Parts: sequence; structure tokens; C-alpha cells
Amino acid sequence: MLIDDIDFAGLYRQQLKLANRSEKTPDRWDRRAERMADRCASPADGYLQQLLEKIDLQEARSLFDMGCGPGTVALALADRLPAVYGVDYSQGMLEVAARRAGQMGAGHVQWIRRAWDESWDDLPRCDIAVASRSTLVSDMREAMSKLNRQARLRVYTTHLVSTTFISPAIQRAAGRPVIELPNYIYALNVLYQMGIHAHVDFIRGNSCQRDNSSWERFEQNVRWGLGDISEEERQRLYHWYQQQDASRIAPATRDWALIWWNCKDEEAEG
Ligand SMILES: C[S@@+](CC[C@H](N)C(=O)[O-])C[C@H]1O[C@@H](n2cnc3c(N)ncnc32)[C@H](O)[C@@H]1O
Repeated sequence: MLIDDIDFAGLYRQQLKLANRSEKTPDRWDRRAERMADRCASPADGYLQQLLEKIDLQEARSLFDMGCGPGTVALALADRLPAVYGVDYSQGMLEVAARRAGQMGAGHVQWIRRAWDESWDDLPRCDIAVASRSTLVSDMREAMSKLNRQARLRVYTTHLVSTTFISPAIQRAAGRPVIELPNYIYALNVLYQMGIHAHVDFIRGNSCQRDNSSWERFEQNVRWGLGDISEEERQRLYHWYQQQDASRIAPATRDWALIWWNCKDEEAEG
């Protein structure tokens, strides 16, 4: 078989379907906005610091931050760029982002409510496009093409390294079969087939769900990762949790792959 006979974009969709991942609706993100602002968007956040070190702003005057959440990347770079756009489909996230922008005196950042799979035709092209921790999209090829069209100089995207949000041990404890999500390998190969030879780097991210110190917190974290759990699954997990040293329950997702490319040199088939 030749490599170009492998349809990586199709395999991505298939793996997402196998993982039976129900698309999170914007209101589920709305409810997490405040918590995410505190934990993930703080300038002290290790993931954010590592990502910022790797984003090259040379010759850049504008930034397009897709799935911006509480303005994590957009606001961290706002004082270095005259034009910044934070785009997200969650109104709650955009409200928290706008409030943070006000507190930081970053009034020039514009917040746009838009989803990955809506049309971006009326959105401004920018020098740099970023999609940080927001790339578990339904159609990877379409999403990467859109970002590539949106940027003039460079695109930076971060993707899961691990194939599970909740560790396999916890999935098994709930009595569920272990399901795997499509990780960064799919995105890299999809880009390759688009004619984009992207760079890969790694970021050690702090999990936002590290705190399992009480059963309530643990249950909340598991529900976020697994979706609704039945009463039977809850009982199994409760029993399992009681037998663990809570400080040693490892979150599955820690590391992120940074996939980035130069737009100028690359010809995308799109
Ligand atoms: C894990 S947060 C990441 C936020 C921020 N980029 C960061 O790194 O801290 C994912 C964000 O993607 C947004 N998102 C998820 N699916 C989306 C979609 N289909 N269209 C637009 N935004 C989406 C969510 O609302 C959320 O704000």
C-alpha cells in the first residue's frame, strides 16, 4: 500500500466516532469558563509559558486565536500586537475573556463568537493563527485548511499526545471499555497529505483536572472526561476511589504536541 492510499482525514473521523465522543455543546464550556480562567489562563501556567516561548512573532502584527476560551493566548500576547482576535463558540468563555481584557487594559482585542464548522469568510486574515487545546474538531482536514487560510505567516496548533482524557485505569474501574481519541499523529499526517510539512514540538501541560483530593472533585473530573455516568458506574468508581491514595491518581492528559508551520513556504492543497 502506498502512503497516499491511506486516508488520514477519514481515519481521524473514524477514530473520533469509535471513541463515541459526544460533541460538547457551547453551554458545557460556558459553565467552565471561570474555572478555566483561574487555572489555565494564568500567566503562571506552565503550559502557557512553554507555548508562548515557542510562538515566533517576528514580522507579525495580528493574531487569530481560535477556541480562545478565556483569552488564554490572545491576552498573553495582546501587548505585543496591534490587532488581536479571540474566536470561540462559547458565549460564557467570550464574556470572561472580555472581562479579563478590561482588567488588563487590552481594549483592542476583539472577541468573535464563531464555531470551527461555521463559515469564517467574513473573519479577518491575520499574520499568526493559533488553536491552543481546541483541536478536537469533527473534521481535522477542514479545520487545518481553515487555519492555514486564516494566517499569512505561521500557524500554531496544540493537540493531545495521550489518546485518553481519563486514565485507562479509571475507565476500567468504571467498567467501561477503554476508548482512544485521535491524538496529534492524525493531525500531523492530515497536514502532510495537504502538502504541509509541519514541525512537531512538545509541551508538558498541567492537567486542569489534577485535583482529585476529594470524592466530589474526582467525580466531577470523571464526569467531564467520560460524560454522564450511570449509578452503577458511579458505585464502582466510588468503591475504587476509596481504595486509592488520592494524591497518586494520575490525570491522563498532561502533555501536548505543538504542531506549527510557515504559511509562506508551504503550498496547501486545502
Ligand atoms: C480547552 S479550552 C482551550 C482554551 C484556550 N485556547 C486555552 O488553551 O486555554 C477549548 C475551547 O475551545 C472552544 N471550542 C470547543 N469546540 C469548539 C467549536 N466547535 N467551535 C469553537 N470553539 C470551540 C471551547 O468553548 C473552549 O473555550
